Amino acid sequence: SHRLKTSFMGQRVDYFKTIDSTNIQANKIASQSPEGTVVLADEQTKGKGRIGRTWVSEQNKGLYFSTILKPDIALMQAPFITQLVAASLTKTFLDLGIEISIKWPNDLIYKGKKVAGILTEMSAEIDHISYIIVGIGINLYKKDFEDEIKDKATSFANEGIEIDRIEFLRKFFPNFEDLYEKFKAGDKRECLDILRSRSAVLGREVYKIKEGERVKVFARDIDDMGNLIVEHESGQVETVFTGEISIRGL
Ligand code: BTN
Repeated sequence: SHRLKTSFMGQRVDYFKTIDSTNIQANKIASQSPEGTVVLADEQTKGKGRIGRTWVSEQNKGLYFSTILKPDIALMQAPFITQLVAASLTKTFLDLGIEISIKWPNDLIYKGKKVAGILTEMSAEIDHISYIIVGIGINLYKKDFEDEIKDKATSFANEGIEIDRIEFLRKFFPNFEDLYEKFKAGDKRECLDILRSRSAVLGREVYKIKEGERVKVFARDIDDMGNLIVEHESGQVETVFTGEISIRGL
């Protein structure tokens, strides 16, 4: 059948041909919307990337959507949501036979280049989460990459892979709901399995970037909170928290 096989994830979709940003729109409707509500757009005029960057979101070039979550979890568990989404996306690509890896904490990599990004935004009170917006941007058909990013970003079409947007979403939401439900029940095993086995950084030398400074470190492990455990050249071991800094130099 054509029914979406979830109980709430993606069951409501607010679709726009053009919008400023699906994350901005999701933020506006979040308090009145049930969990799992999705804002989907063909085009974004103010697509947001991480760290204040712009996410270029032209029509027929990609998949741009945001999902509203309302988990009853401790605040300190919230950063794991981004990793859960990375794992759900990766699982979906693997189901489609596409070999994706994850550049911790939340870039999806295909053949060494970025194909998708996740922007998670949280609205919280002192002691509880009001809602979390998970924005996902996937480069599906973009072909004209600017010279500066040609060797860092690509799209699936660029790599000879056709992905239908609706078919992808139909496969993604059940995976997402399943891993989300397990996470809320305290079971992160499958997520962590995917994060570790599909990591593009584990077992490699990477550069930790903090306040503009590059420090060479060795990526040892991902702990149960989703944090990256790195080892400095001095042998000192450090826990790098999700969302705190980014790892470049892949
Ligand atoms: C990144 O890698 O910097 C994150 C990119 C996130 C882009 C998506 S597209 C849908 C949603 N709406 C936005 O404005 N941003 C996210």
